[in-house]
Amino acid sequence: MTVNLAGIPLQSPIVLAAGTAGYADEILEVLSPGVLGAVTSKSITALPRDGHPTWRMVPLRGAMLNAIGLANTGVERFARHVANSHTLEKHGVALFASVAGDTIESYVRVAAEMDGLEGVRAIELNVSCPNVHGGSDFGVDPVALADLVDAVRQVVIAKPLIIKLPPVATGLPNIVTLAKTAVEARGRPGGPNARPGADVLCLANTTPAMAIDVRTRRPRITNTTGGLSGPAVHHIVVKLIHDTYRKYAKDVGVPIIGLGGVTRWQDAAQFILAGASAVGMGTATMADPSSPARVYRGLERWQRRMGAATIRELVGAVDVV
Ligand SMILES: Cc1cc2nc3c(=O)[nH]c(=O)nc-3n(C[C@H](O)[C@H](O)[C@H](O)COP(=O)(O)O)c2cc1C
Repeated sequence: MTVNLAGIPLQSPIVLAAGTAGYADEILEVLSPGVLGAVTSKSITALPRDGHPTWRMVPLRGAMLNAIGLANTGVERFARHVANSHTLEKHGVALFASVAGDTIESYVRVAAEMDGLEGVRAIELNVSCPNVHGGSDFGVDPVALADLVDAVRQVVIAKPLIIKLPPVATGLPNIVTLAKTAVEARGRPGGPNARPGADVLCLANTTPAMAIDVRTRRPRITNTTGGLSGPAVHHIVVKLIHDTYRKYAKDVGVPIIGLGGVTRWQDAAQFILAGASAVGMGTATMADPSSPARVYRGLERWQRRMGAATIRELVGAVDVV
């Protein structure tokens, strides 16, 4: 069940999704850490943010709608926290730091700080938050995305860079264009860093959505609109992974973290068959914090039934004619 994600060895393909496991302090009280490969932090910004006023989350049929508004402690406090807390490390679980911003400079500032933190194994750029002004600007504009990744690559020298894309299923730019842009962005000519852009792709963030209370006629969350996650989005993401893997990522050897609506091992297995090397879980852990353990055990049994010696053998192994 071990995987290697752009040089990071993970003891399990399961990664907890950004924003759904906080800073990873409490989750290990209810979940055996052996089933986790990595935990992604809440997205961190340069300064602390309170986020949007409540209500910020609402459960829907087969889904969750949220507009948290990137409430987080800010990078300084996060850095102190990482320096003092070695819980994940102790259990062999990697910490991925999610970084958000609204300008190139703000992303660069936080990413540079994260690059220097010993406890952080990889940096994930959230360019796809649908709930804050400008949160997904970079993720839907290939030119802006290339500029951002270029600039961040100047300061992210030591660690793999994950780019978390929005679920753009149709229209222009499509997911393959964005994936290619994120991976092929290079450091500025003459810059210190000749590495390509993203080492890993994370597909995908939440889908912009809205829910209305028909009795009060008011939106069900204060921000009016938010991001949809959970089982309702799962099969949209299966296709995003399939398209990205087949049309691009397989050829260039860039691993994908599949993320969206995984609640059962069968969901995780579909992501792997579509081309994901690792599988994120978020919303499922809110209903049942121990669900990653069930998914892990199910995947293990499935791998054996498939006659595969490792989970890696099953990546992209969907039988399409
Ligand atoms: C309450 C909540 C907060 C989230 N916060 C973040 C965040 O800070 N950064 C981020 O990149 N994604 C955030 N997400 C998106 C998740 O990381 C994930 O992409 C999405 O929920 C789909 O996966 P799931 O269906 O397994 O939850 C958040 C999702 C939820 C439900």
